[in-house]
Amino acid sequence: MALKTTHMAQEDLFKKLIAHCKEYGYVFPSSEIYDGLGAVYDYGQYGVELKNNIKKYWWDSMVLLHENIVGIDSAIFMHPTIWKASGHVDAFNDPLIDNRDSKKRYRADVLIEEELAKIEGKIEKEVDKARNRFGESFDEGQFRATNARVLESQTKWDELHNRFAEALNNSDLVELKQIIEDNGIVCPISGTRNWTDVRQFNLMFSTDMGSTADGALKIYLRPETAQGIFVNYLNVQKSGRMKIPFGIAQIGKAFRNEIVARQFIFRMREFEQMELQFFVRPGTELDWFEKWKVLRIKWHQALGFGNENYRFHVHEKLAHYANAAVDIEYKFPFGFKEVEGIHSRTDYDLSQHQKFSGKKIQYFDPELNESYVPFVVETSIGVDRMFLQIISASYHEEIVEDANGQKDTRVVLRLPAPLAPVKLAVMPLIKKDGLPEKAREIIEELKFDFNCQYDEKDSIGKRYRRQDAIGTPFCVTVDPETAGDNTVTIRYRDTMLQERVQIGQLREIILNQVGFRKLFNQLN
Ligand code: GAP
Repeated sequence: MALKTTHMAQEDLFKKLIAHCKEYGYVFPSSEIYDGLGAVYDYGQYGVELKNNIKKYWWDSMVLLHENIVGIDSAIFMHPTIWKASGHVDAFNDPLIDNRDSKKRYRADVLIEEELAKIEGKIEKEVDKARNRFGESFDEGQFRATNARVLESQTKWDELHNRFAEALNNSDLVELKQIIEDNGIVCPISGTRNWTDVRQFNLMFSTDMGSTADGALKIYLRPETAQGIFVNYLNVQKSGRMKIPFGIAQIGKAFRNEIVARQFIFRMREFEQMELQFFVRPGTELDWFEKWKVLRIKWHQALGFGNENYRFHVHEKLAHYANAAVDIEYKFPFGFKEVEGIHSRTDYDLSQHQKFSGKKIQYFDPELNESYVPFVVETSIGVDRMFLQIISASYHEEIVEDANGQKDTRVVLRLPAPLAPVKLAVMPLIKKDGLPEKAREIIEELKFDFNCQYDEKDSIGKRYRRQDAIGTPFCVTVDPETAGDNTVTIRYRDTMLQERVQIGQLREIILNQVGFRKLFNQLN
């Protein structure tokens, strides 16, 4: 019986998540036996399954459910002029600042964002305190509008936010440093304000293609998958006879030489993106932008982690290619952070490629009887960041009581069943009397539909705990009665309830929960 979920400091929770991911074969630090490589991670035996399931959820929700969306898989290496045309060579920069005492490097914008989050935190604390004090009669709106301490913090937040947004929009590096100084922002390591000036730093990795004797070509590892879609726009439109509006989806690796690479797989130097470029008639892009916002938040919320844990964040500074941009943020253990970006990218990219390649990249619209460069609405989400979001939301520690009233802590990953790496574990109660053979027989039957695991080691209680920690939604136990009546016990991960069912019923019971249809039905 689950008594209650334990509450812990969010920082402790995050540390536990990282340790859990390593202990249970989800995520390992890259090159670990050589002491690791900064912000690069490997996925283990369960991690890769979860990752594949996330990708399937995204891919099918795009390509299967929309008849006007198709997928591609473009190469990571691309002609270097693409990055000149896209603006990445000149403008894909982050403002960096060093602390002279700790020798640590930071993103100036992130330091200021963290300061803003601190003020937000103060306001939330006041609101929580008041909610506890007033109970049922608490009017949050009125409290926020009248409480002196809240108003003071809110004014401070507004002033800082406006100044920050203006500095970003003007790419004013001197002003960014001034904001850091004026707000007394200190280095979290040294605690001092001994900052260098703010400088721009290009995030693209480069390498050489061909031998130097031939005159090697400097090429870049793509920092986004989107450009592979833009440069294939004509190929797909023509070969697929696509009519606007239509979309091209792609999943693939991207690389960024991130200055600040902390927070586990939140910000990596090698990561994977799932991107959609949706091509529309000029002038309709903002309507499509709104439609995609709705579709994408539904996709997140269908996973059932609580709608209140998601929010939209409108960008302070628009990227060089966008006329509208919003992030979908999730409440991670370290605060609300971006999981996905939705951008109205105008006709910027296609026009630039038209200019730099000298090839006409246009669409003849039979309804308007005219040609134009299509406008683009993009949705872009990191697979790894989505993975972290799901693990953060799924990890629970619960105090449970066994049949003898003994209390224990169970760690359970309440993964949405369609995404769980292992769908069911089949366990013989004991390792004899033909029970292992019967358990194997069940697996032989179900392995074509589900990822199954055979588990006979340790007591049944320990086996259940192991599967809970992996996030397996179903455990099936074969016992001496099974041989007689062909029934087994099925145990449900979240409720820990058990019931006796016919072996023949298993497939349907499991399929009902693990099929993607359950999620897709919520996306209409
Ligand atoms: N094509 C648009 C684009 O790349 P972005 O906001 O820079 O936009 C989109 O990235 C998404 O990619 C982010 O919302 C995030 O989920 C993921 N992402 C970006 N940088 C990342 C990094 N260094 N590590 C992990 N995920 C990252």
